[in-house]
Amino acid sequence: MYKVHCLNNISPVGLALLSDNYELTDNIEEADAILVRSADMHEMDIPANLKAVARAGAGVNNIPLEKMAEAGIPVFNTPGANANAVKELTIAGMLLASRDIIGGAQWCKENAQDENIGKSAEKAKKQFAGTEITDKTLGIIGLGAIGKLMVPAVEALGMKVVGYDPFVTPEQAAAISESMTYVTDLNDLYGDSDFVTLHVPATPETTGMINDEAIAAMKEGAVVLNFARGTLVDDEAMARGLAEGKLRAYVTDFANPAVMAMEGAIVLPHLGASTEEAEDNCAKMAVEEIMDYLETGTKTHCVNMK
Ligand code: MLT
Repeated sequence: MYKVHCLNNISPVGLALLSDNYELTDNIEEADAILVRSADMHEMDIPANLKAVARAGAGVNNIPLEKMAEAGIPVFNTPGANANAVKELTIAGMLLASRDIIGGAQWCKENAQDENIGKSAEKAKKQFAGTEITDKTLGIIGLGAIGKLMVPAVEALGMKVVGYDPFVTPEQAAAISESMTYVTDLNDLYGDSDFVTLHVPATPETTGMINDEAIAAMKEGAVVLNFARGTLVDDEAMARGLAEGKLRAYVTDFANPAVMAMEGAIVLPHLGASTEEAEDNCAKMAVEEIMDYLETGTKTHCVNMK
């Protein structure tokens, strides 16, 4: 009997796939496998029985990958399982930055007691007007599971797309979309894009990639969307870009005191993958990966060893 410990809430739809050879345990010390979402495992001691870790999600920056590999413990993730949810929220982020939907909704709440709210709204609405996304250009950095899904979705909304990904060949880019402009120099993407969206992992190479130079290369009034990881953006550079009016908005799914202090930042509490569908998909994939590994040694989507 294998014992599985959940470090975070894992969807019951996924846990239901565990066969009779498995049982859940509250005691991490006896766990053969750990299922985790965003709990930080960096300072944790590795339980003596642990044989595998599966992250119900794509990002693995909350797990000490090398330490696990040295202990012979594979770490799995679930690429693509929540991609649609993140794609949908990124599109919502573009719309939130384009029109003051948040300000308008807030105004309605604040004027809830006004018996003539219908009339007052007609007068107030001009302060919340904005622009449309059709005919604008979206620059997508990272053409993995999420970036790839973004392309047809925003093209269907009438947007133009510029794509960048050093791990994708021109042929692979053309297979995603013939009409996407594929670039190998990020400056070309920055120079053309009204919106720049990040869909790359948090690694030492991507840390602070949106810095003063990147922002300087962007169009006047560009919007940066970050539904990937907070560390990709140099917060000081972003604060300058917004304060100087170079950027119109920064939409981020990663709250911290620095972004909360930025005028022009729209901040969400890491909601990208928080949908029923994504949570079920991630949990199912993670549970299957654990069972496959424990029963057959198969490593599907292992991120820390061959
Ligand atoms: C991911 O890494 O899959 C997303 O950011 C969502 C999450 O962290 O669960």
